[in-house]
Amino acid sequence: MGDERGSLIALEENHNVPFDVKRVYYIFGTKIGVRRGYHAHKHLKQLAICVSGSCTFMLDDGTQKQHIELNSPTHGLLIEGLVWREMYDFSPDCVLMVLASELYDENDYIRVYDEFLKALAS
Ligand code: TYD
Repeated sequence: MGDERGSLIALEENHNVPFDVKRVYYIFGTKIGVRRGYHAHKHLKQLAICVSGSCTFMLDDGTQKQHIELNSPTHGLLIEGLVWREMYDFSPDCVLMVLASELYDENDYIRVYDEFLKALAS
């Protein structure tokens, strides 16, 4: 939505966000050259939006790696299923906002790549 004053975007669960939103977090002030993520989730669904600046996601489904630059507050990247993710090339002004379908739960993380491959095979 926009008018002469500028832009406004509303995110609504089960409407333009395809899950119940239980948590929102944001990553900012990421230092130059930092790469983060390095995990997959067993069940979590996430919608990532770069509300300021830019960064790049590497999504790996075990077969294929995709590199997706997020550089607009009007674009969301939906991540669901067993996908290994890494984020890099954060601009100094990057604010990466993530909407998540569950509360934080370390047990939902797979942080070892070999375990990710095993989970895909099982
Ligand atoms: P982590 O998921 O490892 O960050 P990234 O994958 O983006 O590199 O999280 C970093 C730290 O923050 C870790 O100690 C867990 C904590 N954390 C929370 O407490 N709540 C949250 O919602 C998230 C995403 C992380």
